This record gives sequence, structure tokens and C-alpha cells, in this order.
Amino acid sequence: MEGRVLILAPHGRDAQVIESVLRRDGMECLVCGDGAALMSELQAGAATVVLTEEVLAGGLDESLRDYLEHQPAWSDFPFVVLAMRQAVRRSERAMVSLQELGNLVILERPVNPQTLMSAARSAFRARARQYASRRHLTDIESAKQTVEQLNADLESRIAERTSDLAGANDRLMREIGDRERIQSKVVQSQKLEAIGRLTGGIAHDFNNLLHAVSMNLQFIMRLAEDKRLSDYARRAKESVDRGARLTAQLLSFSRAQSLLPRLHEVNTMVGNLRELIEVSVGSKVQVHVDLCADEAWALLDGAQLEMALLNMAVNSRDAMPDGGHLTIRTRLLEGADGKRRVQISVQDTGCGIPEAIQSKVFDPFFTTKADGEGTGLGLSQVYGFASQSGGSAEIHSREGEGTTVTLQFARATPAAESAPAAPSQNNGATTSSKRTEVLVVEDDEAVRRGITEGLRLLNYSVREASDGESGLRELRRRMPDLLMADYLMPGMNGAEFIAAARQIYPEIPVLMATGYADMAEVERLVGVQSVLKKPFDLETLNAAVGSELARCRVQA
Ligand SMILES: Nc1ncnc2c1ncn2[C@@H]1O[C@H](COP(=O)(O)OP(=O)(O)OP(=O)(O)O)[C@@H](O)[C@H]1O
Ligand SMILES: [Mg+2]
Repeated sequence: MEGRVLILAPHGRDAQVIESVLRRDGMECLVCGDGAALMSELQAGAATVVLTEEVLAGGLDESLRDYLEHQPAWSDFPFVVLAMRQAVRRSERAMVSLQELGNLVILERPVNPQTLMSAARSAFRARARQYASRRHLTDIESAKQTVEQLNADLESRIAERTSDLAGANDRLMREIGDRERIQSKVVQSQKLEAIGRLTGGIAHDFNNLLHAVSMNLQFIMRLAEDKRLSDYARRAKESVDRGARLTAQLLSFSRAQSLLPRLHEVNTMVGNLRELIEVSVGSKVQVHVDLCADEAWALLDGAQLEMALLNMAVNSRDAMPDGGHLTIRTRLLEGADGKRRVQISVQDTGCGIPEAIQSKVFDPFFTTKADGEGTGLGLSQVYGFASQSGGSAEIHSREGEGTTVTLQFARATPAAESAPAAPSQNNGATTSSKRTEVLVVEDDEAVRRGITEGLRLLNYSVREASDGESGLRELRRRMPDLLMADYLMPGMNGAEFIAAARQIYPEIPVLMATGYADMAEVERLVGVQSVLKKPFDLETLNAAVGSELARCRVQA
């Protein structure tokens, strides 16, 4: 199509003549009958148009003008015009029409066939060049589009990759954060473990000292004839008791407290304690209790839980000098591992704890309170008690907003343990003191002397041994009415000694005196009702010996 020569020469035989000349030169020609036919062929594509000037006499056809005006950038359509035959002057209009055709060659008539051919050929070549430019332009355009497409692809790939990288980076940061949190928890618990071992050892020795001091003071109180002397002793004993409470907290932190775990319904305990807590925190603090609907049973030492709750409540009170809200909440949880837990939390709207010291508040003796106002042992007791009971203690705090301490314990089922027999208020010494013999096995000489003298004062007859081995030798000589052993002794510990003694006398009544013990082991061997917590006073000793003897008589 694009190689065609279109001919528009409607008068006479002009068209045939032109066509025959051009065909001779091998050109593809098409004669158009009128302007409309020319236009439609032109739209289909052509190399040039040969026309006679008469066609332009009435001005340029509107559609042709429009076609020429809207040619693409590469196109400048070539025309060959055969001029009027008579040499009259061209009208103004004809001049304008010729100008509007733009790219044209005018051949005067009569036209030499050679001239016509060469004019048509050069128009043909000019048009061929235009078509070549068009090809170049489209090639350039498509190359540009390819580049743009590649660019767009590249950008989207870069964006995709960037977002992948950002995602990976986020994951990495999260993992680093998780690891840091876990690591700091591990460091924290290792630190508490180490301090615990240290304080546990010291507290144990201290407890024995206090015990010996306390016993001797009680002897003085009993035997002194001078009233002033017994008053001094009583005052000294009061200080010893305060010291004993401190060592108890320390032992509790170091998880070496002799816990007496029992099944407790935590909601009931919290409910019973509410009044005491309200009194302790004062009227400016509003106490809210939010208990879970179901019963929350846990195996723990009730007295220790009460002490922990009070310690937390008092901390909250101190953090809210102008008043605020204190909420004690219990919840039942089931972890992803299927473990059922009882959670107790104490929340306040107090001053909160600065982040920098949050990792220290469980440390023994860490306090921010003024001298004499805090010993820094409250939260240590909370932490030690929870850990020793197989649970956990955590603190969450925001400065200026408040603090929540959360304890968790394994949830128990209430049928697991039968209620222990209530210890009878028996007083064995007064009825059968002459015949009742106690074998005391205790490695600490001062403590042993305190206990033996105490028992003698209570009218028991006493034999003594300083360790498990010699205890067993004494035992083989003759069976005493009651065995009293310390737990922590070099060589054989108290539990092992009792186990060996029961090989000899299976039914022998046993009391274990201890301030420091693996209570699970003790309970397995002797039962918790047979444990006497050090330091104890004479009345407690008397009652414990009496009730153990009575318990064994009932069982016999
Ligand atoms: N609820 C709380 N709000 C703000 N700070 C608290 C809270 N509980 C504990 N703390 C901070 O932790 C420290 C340690 O508490 P902890 O109970 O162990 O000792 P204490 O209260 O200072 O003394 P103690 O309890 O032996 O009388 C406190 O001194 C206080 O700074
Ligand atoms: Mg406190």
C-alpha cells in the first residue's frame, strides 16, 4: 500500500496518460475518481499523489487539509501537481491551495513523460525516507518503552527486596530483643540464686545462734529469782524475736525456709485477709478485691502467702502516700504447655519504680526507704516464697503510673490431700515426765545444750548425740520415748538419720527441729506435723513433744 502512486485527474484522459507513463516505470498506480476516493486511499497509505491543478480550482478539500495538518512528526506527504495548460495567472485561491499542499513539485504542461517519471520517483524516494524515519521513530519508541518497563520492573523488584530486607531486619531486631530479655532474666535469676545461697548459709548459722540465745534467756526468765533479772532477760528475748523474724525472711528469700505446704483455697485466704490489709494500708488507700469465679486451690504455706500479700500491700501503701487504689486479683490460667496455674496479683496506682532499679527490688536489703523505715526484705520474702513453692514472682512497673506484682503457683485439685490431724494440746511432761526419755541429735553444741536443758527443765529425761552415727549408737543401746533431730548436720542429715532410726524402731515418735530444710524430703519421711521450726521457745517445745507423743499413742 505504502508504495502506491495515487492519481487524481478527473478531466479528459489525463489519468490514463499519467498512469501509463508511471506504470511503464514499474510504479504501482491507482486512479481515484474524485476527492473522496483519494482521501480514503490516502488514509490506507501511499507514496505520493499526482494530481492536476484543476482539482484545486475550488480550494483545497477540507478533509485533505485536515489530513495534512494532522500528519505525524515524521510525515511530510509529497505531491506532484500538473499545472494548468493555459498560461493564465493563477488565482489567489489556487496559490493558497498549492501552498497548503506543502511538499510539492509543479510540472508545467505539456509534461514530458521523462520529467513526470523523475518527479514521481523523487517524490516516491522522499516518501520512502519518511517511512524509514517512521520505522526508526517506532523502534526508538519501543526501545524507550522497553527501558521504561525494565525500569519499572527494577523499581518494583528493588521495592520488593527492600521490603523483604526490612521484614528480615524487623525479625532480627525482635529476636535480638527477645534474646536480650531472656538473657537479662537468666542473669537476674542467677544473681538471686547466688545471693540466696550466700544469705541462706549466713541466716542458718544466725538462726542457730539466736536459738541458743533465746533458749538461755528463757531459762533465765524461768529460774531468776530477782525480778529485775527476768525483766532484762525478757527484753533481750524481745530483741531476739525481732532478729528471728529477720532471719526467717532471709531464709525465706534463700528458699531455705521450712515451708509447711498445705492445700489452700486462695480466694478464701485473700477474702479473710482483706480486713487486715485494709487496716495496714490505711484509709487513704482504697482496697479492691477481684476474685476469679472458680475455686483456686494451690499447695503452699498459708502463713507465708499471707506474709507475702502483706509485704506487697505495705509496699503499695508506701508508694501511695497521698492515697490511691490497691487491687488484689486472682485468676486461673492454663498455659500453652497445658499447665494450670493460680495467679495472684497486687496492683497499685502509686509512684512506680524507675526502670534502672527494677532488676534490684527482689534483692535482699535493697531498699529506697529512709534508714529505719525499710529493711529491703519484703520483696525478697515474696520472691523466695514463690520460688520455693514451685511458683514465680514478677514485677511490672511504670514510673508515675503504678506497680503490679504477680505471683503464680501450680493449681491443685482439692481432693489431693486429707486434712492433717489437729495437734492435741497435750502436755506430756506433766503426766509422764519421770518416764519419758528424749534422745536429742544436734550438731551445734550451743543449740543442743539449749534443747537438752529446756527438756530437762520440762521434766523430761534426756540423752544426747552430736551426729547421726552416734545417735544411732545411742538408739541401739536403748529405745527412747521420742527422737528429736536437727535437719542440717554434717554426714548424715536429719531425714536420713530418722529413716535409719525407723529401720530399728519403726514406730518411734520423731520431732525434727529445723530452721532450714528440704521440706519435701522431710515431709516424705516424717510428716510435716512432726516439724518444729527454729528458733522456738519452751512452750512451743513442750507442746510439740507432747502432741507428737500423743499422736503416736493414738496410732499405736
Ligand atoms: N509497689 C511498689 N511501688 C513502688 N516501689 C516499690 C513497690 N514495691 C517495692 N518497691 C521498691 O522496692 C524496694 C524494695 O522493696 P522491699 O519490700 O523488698 O523492701 P522495703 O519495702 O524497702 O523494706 P521492707 O519491706 O523490708 O520493710 C522498695 O524500697 C521500693 O523502692
Ligand atoms: Mg516492703
